[in-house]
Parts: sequence; C-alpha cells; structure tokens
Amino acid sequence: METSVRPYYVPVGNEERVFLAAFRQGLPIMLKGPTGCGKTRFVEAMAHQAGRPLITVACHDDLSTADLVGRYLLQGGETRWVDGPLTRAVREGAICYLDEVVEARQDTTVVLHPLADHRRQLPIDRLGVTLDAAEGFCLVVSYNPGYQSVLKDLKDSTRQRMIAIELGYPPAEIEEKIIAVEAAADQRAAAQLVRIGRAVRQADAPGLREVASTRVLISAAKLIAEGLAPGDAARAAIAGPLTDDPLVAANLTAVIDAYLQE
Ligand SMILES: Nc1ncnc2c1ncn2[C@@H]1O[C@H](COP(=O)(O)OP(=O)(O)OP(=O)(O)O)[C@@H](O)[C@H]1O
Ligand SMILES: [Mg+2]
Repeated sequence: METSVRPYYVPVGNEERVFLAAFRQGLPIMLKGPTGCGKTRFVEAMAHQAGRPLITVACHDDLSTADLVGRYLLQGGETRWVDGPLTRAVREGAICYLDEVVEARQDTTVVLHPLADHRRQLPIDRLGVTLDAAEGFCLVVSYNPGYQSVLKDLKDSTRQRMIAIELGYPPAEIEEKIIAVEAAADQRAAAQLVRIGRAVRQADAPGLREVASTRVLISAAKLIAEGLAPGDAARAAIAGPLTDDPLVAANLTAVIDAYLQE
C-alpha cells in the first residue's frame, strides 16, 4: 500500500539494498523467515520506498491459477472478465507479494515461471493473450523454511530465478527498539520482553511449533502498556499462543517468571 509515510521497518542487515537492487533489475525476490519476523512489514516499507503499489495474495492449497490471473464472472446476465491480483499487478507495475507461496500447489505456481525469468510475461490462456509486465512490476514470494514440506517445496527452476533475502528475529538492541516503538512501551519493559523472547528461542522446548516471534513480544508489550502486570502479559501473549500442551506451557511460564525476577 502506498502511503505518504514510509511503514516503520528497521533494517537488520543489507536487506533493503538487496531488495531495491533486485527491484531495479526486475528480478523476482524470495523472502525467507520464521513467522512474525517482519517479512510483511519489510515488503510494505520497500514498496513505499520503490514508489510502487503493493498487491498481496495469501496463498493456500486451494488457490487456483484463476484466483491469481482472473476469471469470467456472471454479472447482471453478462459474463465479464475480472483480472486477478497477479494480472492487476502485471498491468499496473505493482509489487505482487505472494505470502506463504509454498502453500500453493505447483500447478498453480507454474504461471509464475515466465513472469519470474527474463521474459516477464504473463500468459492468460482464457483470454488468449500474453501480457508483458509493466515497468515496476516485481514478484515477491515469502515462506517459512521451517514449515516447508518436501512435496510443497518450490520448484528448483523457479527458485534459481529468484534473489533470496533471509530475515530472522532482529538482534536484541534492534528488537528492543522495535517493541518500544510499535507498542509505545518503555525501554525497560521492552528490554525485559526481549530477554524473555531470546530465552524462549534458545530453550528449544520440544512440543513448541514456533518460537517467540517479534510479533508476540510486541503484543505482550501492548498488554503491559494497558496496565497488565508483565507476568500476566507474557503468559497471555507469549506462552498461551505458542502451545496448548500444559507441560510445555508450565516450562514457558517458568522461563518467563525467571526473567521477570531479574
Ligand atoms: N525490522 C522490523 N522493523 C519494524 N517492525 C518490525 C520489524 N520486524 C518485525 N516488526 C514488527 O513485527 C510485527 C510482525 O511482523 P510481520 O507481520 O511483518 O511478520 P511476518 O514475517 O510477515 O510474519 P508471518 O510469517 O506470520 O506473516 C510487525 O507488525 C512489526 O510490528
Ligand atoms: Mg506476513
């Protein structure tokens, strides 16, 4: 989305330079990283920086080529072609962000191949046309390598056409700053939450599907900003969402309490 204020994103490494260089060269980009590490926010900031509209598609296993490209719809007794989000992005020269692309089936993502290479073209079989991507069009896909199943993995030929950017949870000082800004939290609460987050990430607790993301730490800070005690906030925003297993939850609570004592 293009807004006059750049969405708040704090760079951790050279990811902004890599993204903008790839964008200028018309190269597609793959963003890898765990949940809640800033992928979506990063793309929003980069779209703003590049001055291009952002069109986001949340991928899932029922997503069809027609969902991406478009379809004929019956409207008031007439059939009318309606562009899908990918086609709109190709026509408008927008950044098309396919979130969780590995969730989509391969027969859906084949349509990306000619778009992802030097041709930058989108064939639309139903219309019998092939569109050249407008200047500024950029394909960005994201996925979480931790979830990836071999079956759903991106095709090698597609992967090799892309520029990879790996994002992770930011280093402590940067994460503190992000939490303080995003939750309007004080520095001390932010620092405490970051210590908890890092401890949970290192705990490698079996039974945890995910580790504590920057997102859950921000949520905890928001509850604290509302006046909740840090322990209650951390249990509700960090421990609860991460597990349903009472034993694992008890372990997480112990980690949280230990760090709040300090
Ligand atoms: N580097 C950063 N700069 C600013 N904010 C950040 C940064 N990293 C994370 N955040 C914050 O963390 C929140 C979660 O990030 P975001 O939604 O972009 O994660 P994501 O990687 O897209 O997660 P998911 O895979 O679940 O979609 C954002 O709303 C933002 O507040
Ligand atoms: Mg996201």
